[in-house]
Amino acid sequence: MKEIRIQGGKGLFGEIDIQGAKNSILPVLAATILCGGECVIHNCPNLSDVDTSVRILRNLGCSCSVEGNTVTVNSRDINCCEIPDDLMREMRSSIVFLGAILARCGKAVLSSPGGCELGPRPIDLHLSSLKRMGVSIKEEHGMLSCTCESRIKGETINLCFPSVGATENIILAAATADGITTINNAAKEPEISDLADFLNSAGARIYGAGSDTIVIHGVEKLHGTNHSIIPDRIVAATYMAAAVMNGGEIKLKNVMPSNMVSLLWAFNECGCKTEVNCRSITVKSNGELKRIPTVRSLVYPGFPTDAGPILISMLSISKGTSVFVENIFESRYKYIDELKRFGAKIKTEGKVAVIEGVRKLSAANVRCTDLRGGAALVLAGLVAEGETKISEIHHIERGYDDIVGTLSSVGAIISQE
Ligand code: EPZ
Repeated sequence: MKEIRIQGGKGLFGEIDIQGAKNSILPVLAATILCGGECVIHNCPNLSDVDTSVRILRNLGCSCSVEGNTVTVNSRDINCCEIPDDLMREMRSSIVFLGAILARCGKAVLSSPGGCELGPRPIDLHLSSLKRMGVSIKEEHGMLSCTCESRIKGETINLCFPSVGATENIILAAATADGITTINNAAKEPEISDLADFLNSAGARIYGAGSDTIVIHGVEKLHGTNHSIIPDRIVAATYMAAAVMNGGEIKLKNVMPSNMVSLLWAFNECGCKTEVNCRSITVKSNGELKRIPTVRSLVYPGFPTDAGPILISMLSISKGTSVFVENIFESRYKYIDELKRFGAKIKTEGKVAVIEGVRKLSAANVRCTDLRGGAALVLAGLVAEGETKISEIHHIERGYDDIVGTLSSVGAIISQE
């Protein structure tokens, strides 16, 4: 079984080009279904979730080719509207294909995505919004059978929670709908803006992405386009933490600091120095970290839930005690038992994690429980004395493009067996 091995304690120095954002490429690949022509997407990260999305597109009848970090998709010859169960189970975020398949084909059949390592992942906001837009949905035997007799119709949708996925599905259904769709209390994440930029370059008329009110004027047809995916802000935070925890200096290139304000606040509160330019961030530290005031995960532009495990790993070796409150997902602390095997002193109670910093961590054999929890274990291994072995690394491969090669390039003693 594949595992990552790390000899901890090495300072990290050098430059890292940050990969394209996983949570942007996935909805953009779904959006190519609407275009009916050739789409060329640059800065696409090499991830298992991208592989799964490409297989879904090919299953629908799209032609897809991947060359390095460029994916070319042509959805002209779509001939299927079903996502097989195995692909849905491989990647629950395949639900974001629903709106696009419905808009293009008038029907869609997929299995309910179910929960994941972070707890139950309901899709009630997705389904209730699509129903309001004229889609009829039958949920039985774990399957979703969706049909729309005529063209999807524009509607005003008030989201009770600014769900990222639901906002994306509504945008994908509304781009070629009949009439105007207004999303109130929409998610404001940068990945939503990237999706809107992609669709507008293909002929859509989407206004207000990045704010809590998005207005989509449905158009008859979209066309092929070229697009470059925005950088992954969570991956950027991961490598910043690696530099800060071990002492060293790393320059992150191709980042968008304007999307990372809450993350930069946390790093500066920990006492590390950051030099921010328009497309790069240089972070340096002597490895001495301070505790920080209570951090609560919030929807954007608040502190992102996906960076919680990264921050908690970093705080595990800070001076003093910090508190983190996870407000977005029900059970995002499964990795903490593994983190404690390094000697971290962390107590969790419901949404709250109390992190009592320790002077040093010692190497351990651990296993990943989820994507960002796995990244937290890598960070701990980089600073722990001795050799750490990390198994179940398929979780990490979902969201990090060659994390071993990237960390090796800045001096980490890390390998994958
Ligand atoms: C997206 O998940 C991201 N995934 C997640 O990243 C990220 O953590 C999350 O947004 C929050 O930023 C992708 O973009 C592929 P939500 P999503 O809908 O869309 C509840 C990672 O590690 N909810 O904003 O599923 C839900 O239970 C992943 O990269 C409903 O109740 O997030 C959760 O508590 C993990 N009903 C909260 O909203 C719904 O219909 C946030 O969910 C939908 C969501």
